[in-house]
Amino acid sequence: MQLLDGKALSKKIETKVAAEVKQLKDSCGCTPGLAVMLVGHDEASAAYVNMKKKACDRVGFYSVTHEMPENISQEAIEKTIVMMNNDSNIDGILIQLPLPSQIDETKLLELVAPEKDVDGFHPYNVGRLTTGLDGFVPCTPLGVMELLAEHNIDVKGKNCVVVGASNIVGKPMAALLLNAEATVEICHIATDDLKKHTLNADIILVGVGVINLIKEDMVKDDAIIVDIGINRAPNGKLVGDVDFENVSKKCSYITPVPGGVGPMTIAMLLSNTLKAAKINAQKLKDKES
Ligand code: GUN
Repeated sequence: MQLLDGKALSKKIETKVAAEVKQLKDSCGCTPGLAVMLVGHDEASAAYVNMKKKACDRVGFYSVTHEMPENISQEAIEKTIVMMNNDSNIDGILIQLPLPSQIDETKLLELVAPEKDVDGFHPYNVGRLTTGLDGFVPCTPLGVMELLAEHNIDVKGKNCVVVGASNIVGKPMAALLLNAEATVEICHIATDDLKKHTLNADIILVGVGVINLIKEDMVKDDAIIVDIGINRAPNGKLVGDVDFENVSKKCSYITPVPGGVGPMTIAMLLSNTLKAAKINAQKLKDKES
C-alpha cells in the first residue's frame, strides 16, 4: 500500500506558485489578490479560511478576508461581492460555505464575476467543466486529480465510484473523471446497497462526512482509495470517511486524513488564483499595446 501524500505535493505546488508570483511581480508589478468572505461563526469554516489566508501569505499573494456577522443581510453581502468584482486588486473571490440559512447561496454564487470565480462554483464555470472547456474548477476535486496524476495513476477506462453528489465535491469530481475518460458511477444518500457499487470500483472517491462509511468488506483487493471526508472523531482526532486502519491493508493506494486531499484543496485555490491573476495581467498587457 502506498500513501497518496497531499501534504508533500501541496508543498511542491506552493513552491512553484511562489516562484510564478515573483515572476509576475517582476514582469508587470502585478500581485495576485484573493478576497475571502466568511459569514457567521462556523468553527470549521473559520479554521479553513485562516489556513487559506496563511497559504496566500506564504506564496506572496495579497489577500483580504471580509468577516461578516451571522445575521447579515443578503443585500450587504451582495454589495461586498459587487465591490470585489470591481476591485482591480482582486483576481479571485471565494465565499466560504456553508452560509447562514437566511442567505440565498445560489444568488450570491451567481453574482461572483465568472473570471474571478476561483472556487469554480458559478454556473458558467460548472457548464464549462461539464462540457470539457477550460475554466475554473472546484479546488477539492481538482486537487484529487493532481494527486492521482502525481502518482502516475491514469483513470482512463477505470471504474470510478464517487460517493457523494454535492456541488462542491461529488458532481465536479465525477465530471473531471469523465473528462479524463473514466467510467463513472455517482452514489449518494439514496443509493441502495452502496457495497454492491464500491466492490466493483478500481477507484473509490468518497466525501460525505460519515466516519467509517467505507469498510474493508466494501473494497476490492488493490483498489485505489481517495478519502475526501473530514470529520472530528469522538476522541477529538480528525478522520475521513474510510476505515483507514483496515482498508489500508487491502488497497494499493490511499489518502491519509489529515494530510491527503485537505492540503490539495488549498494548493488548488492558490493555483486557481494565480491562473486568474495571469489572465488579468495578460489583459492589461494587451490593453497597453
Ligand atoms: N466549504 C467546504 N469546502 C469549500 C470550498 O472548497 N470552498 C468554499 N468556498 N467553501 C467550502
